[in-house]
Amino acid sequence: MSSSRLTGFYRLGVAERRRRIAAHDRLDFTAIDPGGLPLEAADGMIENVIGTYALPFAVAVNFVVDGVDALIPMAIEEPSVVAAASNAARMVRPAGFTTSISAPVMIGQIQITQIADVEAAAAALRDAAAELLADARRLVPRLAERGGGPVALEPRILAKTSPDGGVIVVHLHVDCRDAMGANLVNTLCEALADRVAQVAGGELGLRILSNLTDGRMVTVRCHVADALLGDADVTGAIAAASRFAELDPYRAATHNKGIMNGVDAVLVATGQDWRAVEAGAHAYAARSGTYRPLAVWREVDGGLAGELVMPLAVGTVGGALHNHPAARLALELADATHADRLAALAGAAGIATNLAALRALATEGIQRGHMALHARGVARAAGATGDLVDRVAAELSACGDVKPDRAREVLARLKESL
Ligand code: MEV
Repeated sequence: MSSSRLTGFYRLGVAERRRRIAAHDRLDFTAIDPGGLPLEAADGMIENVIGTYALPFAVAVNFVVDGVDALIPMAIEEPSVVAAASNAARMVRPAGFTTSISAPVMIGQIQITQIADVEAAAAALRDAAAELLADARRLVPRLAERGGGPVALEPRILAKTSPDGGVIVVHLHVDCRDAMGANLVNTLCEALADRVAQVAGGELGLRILSNLTDGRMVTVRCHVADALLGDADVTGAIAAASRFAELDPYRAATHNKGIMNGVDAVLVATGQDWRAVEAGAHAYAARSGTYRPLAVWREVDGGLAGELVMPLAVGTVGGALHNHPAARLALELADATHADRLAALAGAAGIATNLAALRALATEGIQRGHMALHARGVARAAGATGDLVDRVAAELSACGDVKPDRAREVLARLKESL
């Protein structure tokens, strides 16, 4: 796409917004019309289907990620998140978001219990690792052709003695390329499990991937000049808000919720397993034994520098993508043809919503923004269209009475004066 800087996009009607971004590609918006997910497709995705469930689907604008403009698809029920992401992206736009993404390595776990001598078993597993890995690679020849596949096998001793005897878990590290990889990793773990138990001389326990995907990490950085944030006091207040989250797990949980507002909205729109990413994000945040913020902010060089580091396992092939037309449209819209780009965009959305939340909290609080959006919704529900939406909303907000009756009254008066 040429530019994601779509000034006044939020003021347009839905049809006009579609026209503005349709030039981007030959996008088929029927996938995000009501009923865009056919009932038969839904029925094939999960069990006991009796319908489909809709969410608003929006795009956040103004993003430049690794030097490339991007529209960020977001599906979310919470007001203000898309506006917050777009506003933060506008402030970050001069330098843009920069990311670094690790190789897409997922971890599968094979648990072995009742081991008499865990040290000897671990040594035997290390000796057999090359052979076991070669076997595993032979099971996924096409993934190996694409540069992925099993890359390491490593035993970890969990207990010498326990109610389950000596316990070892074998970690199988698999480069999943553009797949999220849950099915792939689970299949490989199940296929290797008996051999692993035999080598370890114990009983086979669970075999399943780990959602603590710390082999599949995203780092997103950004810098905003003081003047774009407001002034140096705002910068200082945001850095202080970051330090608060670094000191206190109660605040860190809310800070991280603000990050997941952006991340999850992108994951839902693009058909990802957002529960897996949530589980990984919070496990990673607590990895030191204390729950910590995933993003931190510092005052540097006349501005504010932010850094988000989190595990982010996403895929652009497989999963729900086969069956979900809106998820495919979202990937097209974002130009996310590979998993690493999708992870970069989801991470950028996360650090953007975090920045916007901290800026609002450090200045006027978040309720004003929420109420302004709520007022526009009430104005629309009262029948306002076009310019009248903003005019009715402004009056409602000004008098602090954001109610349907009041909105109808204001609308009638404004229409008379036209
Ligand atoms: C609300 O969805 C998210 C915030 O609570 C995040 C934060 O406090 O940083 C505003």
